[in-house]
Amino acid sequence: MSENMQGLKRTHYCTEVSKELIGQEVVVTGWVQRRRNLGQLLFITLRDRTGLLQLAFGEQTQEQLFEKAERLRSEFVIVAQGIVRSRGADVNHSMATGDIEIEVTELRILSEAETTPFEIVENSDVKDELRLKYRYLDLRRPDMQHNIILRSKVAGSVRRFLETNGFLEIETPMLTKSTPEGARDYLVPSRVHPENFYALPQSPQIFKQLLMVSGYDRYFQIVKCFRDEDLRADRQPEFTQIDIEMSFVDVEDIISMNEKLIQQVFKETMDMNIELPIQRLTYQEAMDRYGSDKPDVRFGVELVDLTQTLTNCGFAVFENAINGGGTIRAINAKGMGDLGRKQIDALVKYGQDYGAKGVAWLQIKADGTEKSSFTKFLSEEIVSQIKEKMNATGDDLIMIVADKPNVVFATLGALRLEVARRLELTQKSDYKFVWVTDFPLLEYDEEAGRYVAMHHPFTMPKEEDLHLMDSEPSKVRAQAYDLCLNGYELGGGSLRIYQQDIQEKMFQLLGFDKETAYERFGFLLNAFKYGTPPHGGIAFGLDRIVMLMTQSDSIRDVIAFPKVKDASCLMTDAPNVVDVKQLEELHISTIEPKQASEDVE
Ligand code: AMO
Repeated sequence: MSENMQGLKRTHYCTEVSKELIGQEVVVTGWVQRRRNLGQLLFITLRDRTGLLQLAFGEQTQEQLFEKAERLRSEFVIVAQGIVRSRGADVNHSMATGDIEIEVTELRILSEAETTPFEIVENSDVKDELRLKYRYLDLRRPDMQHNIILRSKVAGSVRRFLETNGFLEIETPMLTKSTPEGARDYLVPSRVHPENFYALPQSPQIFKQLLMVSGYDRYFQIVKCFRDEDLRADRQPEFTQIDIEMSFVDVEDIISMNEKLIQQVFKETMDMNIELPIQRLTYQEAMDRYGSDKPDVRFGVELVDLTQTLTNCGFAVFENAINGGGTIRAINAKGMGDLGRKQIDALVKYGQDYGAKGVAWLQIKADGTEKSSFTKFLSEEIVSQIKEKMNATGDDLIMIVADKPNVVFATLGALRLEVARRLELTQKSDYKFVWVTDFPLLEYDEEAGRYVAMHHPFTMPKEEDLHLMDSEPSKVRAQAYDLCLNGYELGGGSLRIYQQDIQEKMFQLLGFDKETAYERFGFLLNAFKYGTPPHGGIAFGLDRIVMLMTQSDSIRDVIAFPKVKDASCLMTDAPNVVDVKQLEELHISTIEPKQASEDVE
């Protein structure tokens, strides 16, 4: 039968008990990590969220108490009272409290535990499925506790910084109307309004802009956002943004405030110094040099433009690409000069997965011998120009992609990362931030046959490009910026359009007629009629920040109760089938998926 805590109150967390308390009485609580029974002596390692502490039972221990201690098993929850004493020469250096122990005088078993499906230890190699099914046990593990505690500290540090700088934390609705962040919405049916649905917010974008109209000129919120999109290691269907908006500011004001925020958070929670200002690249520079708008700048292997060198080179593959409006770029993987043919083929295949029809390669071994898939089609002079441009010195693998710019950048951007992975060019403990600025305002969506907003429809074009909105919309750059860290997009934002005419123009470019625009965003367009300050902001992915801080491979490791790849929760089994009665109340009937797809066809 389990006991209660009556009359006993915890005085210290496990690792708060130290040498300074020797001789004093303390009360500690927690879970039994393990029991060592040495006959006359019995030791319990007690665990709480701060760490481990040894409880000792020995010759002086009353018989009844000793017997109770013998009954303890892993994961029993106990409270123990006792006197702190030195362990003398018997120090356990692997424990923060390894120089002391508690000589227990009172012990109560508050809760017994069945054998857990896996051991509660650090760095366990337990399968993810099992960890997530028993997430509450997984969360007891010290590495998970470290992650979750750090996450809380990061949120606290963010709040302190923003409050100090005059930001107000204001909540925005979860049951709302579709927001235009580009993913699929999670919908919530309305009981009161048959056939009507709320959408869960993909971000508080429109509401934070409305708050600017309402005069709350510095807003923030640490807020859940919902996006029904394909999941990856850095994406969850529900994730958390640090969402920020400011009025009467320009891009510089926003960037400088936010890099100070990031600097403080990394200093306070990681004791890491980030030098300001953070490096900046324009979108074009990022693409040209790294083939990515979220460049990992911890290593080189930069892209080189060979278009000019290969114009009229005589090799049809290259010439056709150029004549078709394409570009030719290359990277040199130094240190891969000795790769075997199979490995090169694997890299080519890897590149092709990113859309390239092929990857031309030239390998120069350390001893100077060469192999290539394309040099036989080119003159010696052009080959030597390529080598010079690619800084070939021996032990090189030059990879060339000729295609439409977006294919070339996607392929070489991915190959560059793959090369770094294989050559181990990066370390997770190396943190390199970079702002990417001046994104294009619009992106052409081939499938839809129209422009879509690269950031979102409220992003302000650059003043000097406004005149191109009619004539060459694809050339218009936006006052938009992303903060990237080690190849991840940590956050993104923009200055917003606050003039109704520019906003209407933007909607027009996106293919919304006035009616559709008003139907979807009328409340915002109307609000703009009543006095709108210039404003802009940013949102950071809290999960991604903590993932990188903790050097985790997935944001799942920094979210207490995450979903798996198919967006289900292995612990609660959500999503699940609901009662027919619930559906009836919501005026909903379901159809079999198969039937649904037939209907669509
Ligand atoms: P954006 O869509 O770029 O901007 O999102 C901001 C940041 O949120 C994080 N993020 C995600 N994290 C985990 N899982 C996801 N599915 C996911 N999607 C996004 C990223 C990203 O940089 N309203 C604008 C911000 C603004 O303009 O102020 C917005 O939501 O770290």
